[in-house]
Amino acid sequence: MNTEHPRDRVVIFDTTLRDGEQSPGATMSHAEKLEIAELLDDMGVDVIEAGFPIASEGDFAAVKEIAERSKAAVICGLARANIKDIDRCWEAVRHAGQPRIHTFIGTSPLHRAIPNLTQDEMADRIHDTVTHARNLCDNVQWSPMDATRTEWDYLKRTVEIAIKAGATTINIPDTVGYTAPVESAELIRRLIAEVDGGQDVIFATHCHNDLGMATANSLAAVEGGARQIECTINGLGERAGNTALEEVVMALKVRGDIMPFTTGIDTTKIMNISRRVATVSGFPVQFNKAIVGKNAFAHESGIHQDGMLKNAETFEIMRPADVGLKDTSLVMGKHSGRAALKDKLKNLGFDVADNQLQDIFVRFKALADRKKEVFDEDIEALVRAQGAAEDALELKFLRVICGTEAPQSADLTLRVDGEDHQTTAQGDGPVDATFNAIKSLVTHSARLQLYQVSAVTEGTDAQATVTVRLEEEGRIVTGQSADTDTVVASAKAYISALNRLLVKRRTTAAGVDTKTVGYRDTV
Ligand code: KIV
Ligand code: ZN
Repeated sequence: MNTEHPRDRVVIFDTTLRDGEQSPGATMSHAEKLEIAELLDDMGVDVIEAGFPIASEGDFAAVKEIAERSKAAVICGLARANIKDIDRCWEAVRHAGQPRIHTFIGTSPLHRAIPNLTQDEMADRIHDTVTHARNLCDNVQWSPMDATRTEWDYLKRTVEIAIKAGATTINIPDTVGYTAPVESAELIRRLIAEVDGGQDVIFATHCHNDLGMATANSLAAVEGGARQIECTINGLGERAGNTALEEVVMALKVRGDIMPFTTGIDTTKIMNISRRVATVSGFPVQFNKAIVGKNAFAHESGIHQDGMLKNAETFEIMRPADVGLKDTSLVMGKHSGRAALKDKLKNLGFDVADNQLQDIFVRFKALADRKKEVFDEDIEALVRAQGAAEDALELKFLRVICGTEAPQSADLTLRVDGEDHQTTAQGDGPVDATFNAIKSLVTHSARLQLYQVSAVTEGTDAQATVTVRLEEEGRIVTGQSADTDTVVASAKAYISALNRLLVKRRTTAAGVDTKTVGYRDTV
């Protein structure tokens, strides 16, 4: 007799493009959203929450095109609890092979106070909106936002109404990251046992990481009976983020002995998508982040290295290759040609058009002239640092005078809408002088929220990756660039953020922006 515990399948619902993208400063372009959706589909994500279609024309267009291009994944859109939101969501997702409408309302006392509805009025609204969604689409998910702070009786009542009205998945969000693992498991267990119809739907868990417990809470919910985990790549998301996809998926894989559940994820694709999301969102991954951090598989201390050489399992519970991590490899030098570069880019997961290849090739040659060894990471940084054809600003020249004597000065030429402008500015250090020069040529009131430098590889000739985040009247944008010269990388990152800001000024003037709709005003 087979005594093995049956390995239940857990649905992986990725919301990088909705809850992740909603996080301030993580805005992605249309093309970037399409690329990430394709990577998610290819890695075996079951459900992709592609956006919030009512939020803006841009969100609508992205969800619609992701739906049209979808392969195996279910494509889901978010809608508040009103008919207009749900109709707009359906308009966008109906193009998918497998569409889903996800509608929600805040059920906790604090959230009920926002639309000022009584419990009965809210119950009626849930009934009407879920019924409407179900008349449009067979696959409907309903969420009581802030479920973990909703009174048990009211939570039970609303979940029952949603199930009767036709919801097929009930998601239980821990919206503010308040719950703990024991509670998370118990809540799902109780819902399945006590709610009328609780056995007939899939319960999902959606956790935020405010207390650093999102992964633990999600796994506990699965223990309690949840069979869908909502998560994002790199844990991207508002405040401290959402549950990280790579963490729950690898935890289930590595600890299958005590958590006998499977997912459909091809884990060897994790590293590549993690890097792409970090790049397009402008949110770098912390070095010691579980699974995808730069140090997650690095063993530098003497004792560790000795143990690793004797037996890798001494300090490794999973192999780097399991998450798609290849050994850092010396790839090419200044004699490598365009075809070799194209081939290398393909191996690294970049499918570049011919005009992009030409631009990357020119910059690769310049880098190979300056840097002795060019690694995979250098090539990736070159692709990430590529400007877009529609960029209004481009750095043409920069020379900085710096040293022990203050003030430092920067002589800079910037191409603005095709015309070159030159200026000289001083500052407290070379980066400050450079930023002052840029500011004097591009008038803006944006505040610098983040300036971060990290080395792409080892050595004093390593490229520096610089991230710059700017905030102007509530609009938050992030720019990133890499160069062997830290000041040049800083200038380019600042200019890249300004290019994004210019686009954002146009789109937010023309329509409503995702960040200004505020999905928390629920009606
Ligand atoms: O955190 C949350 O409550 C959400 C809902 C919209 C599901 O993201
Ligand atoms: Zn959320």
